[in-house]
Amino acid sequence: MAKILEVFGRSVWDSRGRPTVEAEVTVKGTGRTSVGRAIAPAGASTGSGEAKSIEVRQAVHGVNTEIRNVLVGKSLNQQENDHTLIALDGTPDKSRLGGNAIVAVSLACAQAAAAVEKKPLWKFLAGERAVAMPVPQIQIFGGGAHAHGRMDVQDFMIICTGAGSYTEALEWTAEVYRAAGARLAKREALHGVADEGGYWPAFKSNEEALAELTGAISDAGFEPGAEIAIALDIAASQLWRGGRYHLALEKRSLSVEQMHAMLLGWIERYPIVSIEDPFAEHDADAMASFTRTAGERIQIVGDDFFVTDAKKLQEAKGACNAVLLKPNQVGTLTETLACWRAAQEAGYGAIVSARSGETEDVSIVHLAVGWGVPQLKVGSFARSERMAKWNEGLRIEEALGRNKLPYLARKLFSRRF
Ligand code: PGA
Ligand code: ZN
Repeated sequence: MAKILEVFGRSVWDSRGRPTVEAEVTVKGTGRTSVGRAIAPAGASTGSGEAKSIEVRQAVHGVNTEIRNVLVGKSLNQQENDHTLIALDGTPDKSRLGGNAIVAVSLACAQAAAAVEKKPLWKFLAGERAVAMPVPQIQIFGGGAHAHGRMDVQDFMIICTGAGSYTEALEWTAEVYRAAGARLAKREALHGVADEGGYWPAFKSNEEALAELTGAISDAGFEPGAEIAIALDIAASQLWRGGRYHLALEKRSLSVEQMHAMLLGWIERYPIVSIEDPFAEHDADAMASFTRTAGERIQIVGDDFFVTDAKKLQEAKGACNAVLLKPNQVGTLTETLACWRAAQEAGYGAIVSARSGETEDVSIVHLAVGWGVPQLKVGSFARSERMAKWNEGLRIEEALGRNKLPYLARKLFSRRF
């Protein structure tokens, strides 16, 4: 097995112009050295149970001292190395060495292991298993914490449910993204671009965004629902204050029951196939009740609600029917993989997801393909920290060749349409 020769951390910049941690792990395999590199992303609408990021200078210092010292000389074994990092940190939320330091090193170890075998990470992770391209959820309008709360709902996304391939899904998305931009320009309702590259519109209500998005799908020449459907991330923890859900844009607040009714109304009126964090992270009863009512028809995703924690998912019994997998939310690849395994055991769907603060690092696309996670969410269809990931998917799809399973979009979302 390859041995770790060196671990190095540096500070680089993310898509919001904020510093973040980059890690490089140098290993010696059979006679030659290889390097794995990865960068930590950063969230804005973070769940309270997430691994904690610390100040970047301090995180980088930890990588170059304590983390380096404990890993150098060790065999390159992802599980063992991740457990070494968890034990070295010694806190339940990784707040001593920082989730940002730990996730960068954990991912860099995986990249190094793939480099030793001269394989792309997806292929290294998949081994002999045949894999499929994940189905993208792509943001068209951005709101919530990513657009100064201008819209309450954080992500208005599309899923190209009728597309026959990943490549085709991106082609269709480009048409919808352009059509949505044209509609906003015509209405003089374009504020700018939110953190993940989606349009930041000046709408009067959240429902207006649903109507406009459905209109943009039609304008682009697609049938809403049958060909292209809508996915939402309510990120409801951000709306929760004093026992109610506050919709600042609409100058009103809703009880749990009213929120439930509003979302059911949206599902009736618009071609929605997936809703993420419809209720706040602590509101397990509301989540379970919503899943009982709507879970047969649509995908209900826990993001802040599960924070990529296998144990939380196992204990949640019946709340949600899908989980978002964010490596930096839990801190290591081993724990992220454990959450994906727990999801499979529970019969849950899963989506590998980027953060609102991202970089040129495309590792998560490889994780989705290599682990066989059926969906991928990396933001909108603009800005290079997003497009780098969609484009990496194109290269992987091309390379899959014969080792390729059918594209799953139609099967995953056939329940509704
Ligand atoms: P975040 O948003 O990266 O700001 O947490 C992404 C999401 O909520 O899915
Ligand atoms: Zn979310």
